[in-house]
Amino acid sequence: MPTYRIAPSILSADFARLGEEVRNVVRDGADIIHFDVMDNHYVPNLTIGPLVCEAIRPHVQVPIDVHLMVKPVDRIIPDFAKAGANIITFHPEASDHVDRSLQLIRDNGCKAGLVFNPATPLSYLDYVMDKIDIILIMSVNPGFGGQSFIPEALKKIAEVRQRIDASGREIMLEVDGGIKIDNIAAAAKAGADTFVAGSAIFGKSDYKAVIDAMRTQLAAV
Ligand code: DX5
Ligand code: ZN
Repeated sequence: MPTYRIAPSILSADFARLGEEVRNVVRDGADIIHFDVMDNHYVPNLTIGPLVCEAIRPHVQVPIDVHLMVKPVDRIIPDFAKAGANIITFHPEASDHVDRSLQLIRDNGCKAGLVFNPATPLSYLDYVMDKIDIILIMSVNPGFGGQSFIPEALKKIAEVRQRIDASGREIMLEVDGGIKIDNIAAAAKAGADTFVAGSAIFGKSDYKAVIDAMRTQLAAV
């Protein structure tokens, strides 16, 4: 069985109690904290920046996975690295120099990755696989939590799985958007190993019950 990781998105957490929220979700089984950064420019919503990353950093030991939905990309990368991010991903359409942005993330000591919107072609991967530690497939259009999973993402996950296996490198394959207890197994079967879930976890009162149920689904894949 692959190593499966569950990455709750704090987008759906209670921001007035964010430290407690991340501590609770890690206590209840989260492997990673997914941190959605939106700029009201690349996506039509505005969320949180490096200050908030720095504020939650002392509360958890698990990796913080910063998903940049911002344009331009490069200026903010060192700030997130300093704020304690471990993984930084960005959308290739939002960077004028994708190879340089990937290198910049690694130079700042973080794992680097690309994020693919539902309609973004995988060809962005063609010449940069050696600079990539994680690939994130969006199963909704970015900008908001609580949207429905777009089933076409499964085919894309399977294609990325083939590319990763052919590369022979250890690259995480993450899926983000509309992941729930009842579709997490399908995403795993397609080849995903890391699962972002916002409203499915932080929208519920018992985080452990949801995470345990997700793990039960994954164990049966
Ligand atoms: C969407 C974000 C997601 C989102 C996931 O732009 O990247 O991480 O918060 O939320 P759910 O799980 O509610 O779809
Ligand atoms: Zn995200």
